[in-house]
Amino acid sequence: MVHKFTVTPWEVKGKIDYSKLIKEFGLKPMEDLPPEFTSNLLFRRKKIFAHRDYGRIIDAIKHKKPFAMMTGLMPTGKFHIGHAVLAKQFLFYQEMGAKLYIAVADVEAYNARGQSLEESRRIAIDQYITSYIALGLRPENCEIYFQSERSSDSKKANAFYRLQNLLARHATFNEFKAVYGEISPGKMMCGILQAADMLHAQLPEFEGPVPVVVPVGPDQDPHIRLARDLASRIKEYKFTQLCSTYHLFVPGLNGDKMSASDPNSYIALTDDDKTVKTKVNKYAFSGGKDTVEEHRKHGGNPDVDVAYQWLTFFEEDDARLKQVHDDYKSGKLLSGEMKAILIEKLNSFLKSHQAKREEAKKRVREFLR
Ligand code: TRP
Repeated sequence: MVHKFTVTPWEVKGKIDYSKLIKEFGLKPMEDLPPEFTSNLLFRRKKIFAHRDYGRIIDAIKHKKPFAMMTGLMPTGKFHIGHAVLAKQFLFYQEMGAKLYIAVADVEAYNARGQSLEESRRIAIDQYITSYIALGLRPENCEIYFQSERSSDSKKANAFYRLQNLLARHATFNEFKAVYGEISPGKMMCGILQAADMLHAQLPEFEGPVPVVVPVGPDQDPHIRLARDLASRIKEYKFTQLCSTYHLFVPGLNGDKMSASDPNSYIALTDDDKTVKTKVNKYAFSGGKDTVEEHRKHGGNPDVDVAYQWLTFFEEDDARLKQVHDDYKSGKLLSGEMKAILIEKLNSFLKSHQAKREEAKKRVREFLR
């Protein structure tokens, strides 16, 4: 059966065939990685399924050489468990000695979504940065900045905006179309600004020439391609080509895309325990059979069961995950029981996370550069 699907920065829909994406985008499938990586379940379970030029980062980690990680957040809606997958990656890189650069895309939210800078600042701090800190982000070797305000150090700020302005000469209309599906002055600016986000860590005012990895969902690849093309065309700067990795999307509760605009498709890290229970029980797509008798006889399908799929992202214990998988397939474990396991897992995590958020709120300023 042929499924139609779309993966672009402005639209993700349908049942995604990730191996087809690898071919279409020209990515490399993620190879087996050295032991340093397998402590992270996203690498161990191939949730991070593809890359561009990741060899440089593997080498830097293996030989403890300097490298940086760059990522950005769109400050709209709530911080949900799909976003936590990216946060887990940058915490891993911080652990491995990387310098972290995190951009709040407030200019993009203004130009592409019509949201004010004040609103973006409020959401970024309340939802995203507070949760990052609660998840374990440390202020050493980490710069969080707003696109509208790179730095209070004018040398750094000038270097950043100079780069952005010079990159403009080297872009084409087709590239912007690939990034935003349309061409408007505001969106073109955002595309170039995002390229500057990804490349500026290598400027002498920042880290100098170190390899930089940008972990993203595959929908962001047009941004990566644009930034890589600009990096190779501009002669005034000698950039080491950007590295990127691509992670699988955590499916939305209904089995389709998780979307910030549909609160019933996600669990936010600020949801309370009752909300979690109701959402999972009511909306999580089940891979179980219609009746208990049939389920006992034929077993459920973990591949489409959203509660199980979420566990593959959040249950650290491989043996326990396999047990749940096998019991579900054999019919021993019912759909409601699978959901109960997920609810318990999420709620015990959220309880401690939410307590840590209260502490984290007081520390936001340590992270803004
Ligand atoms: N465009 C990204 C989004 O929609 C946000 C972003 C801005 C970003 N700058 C970045 C992502 C740099 C990765 C790297 O979520």
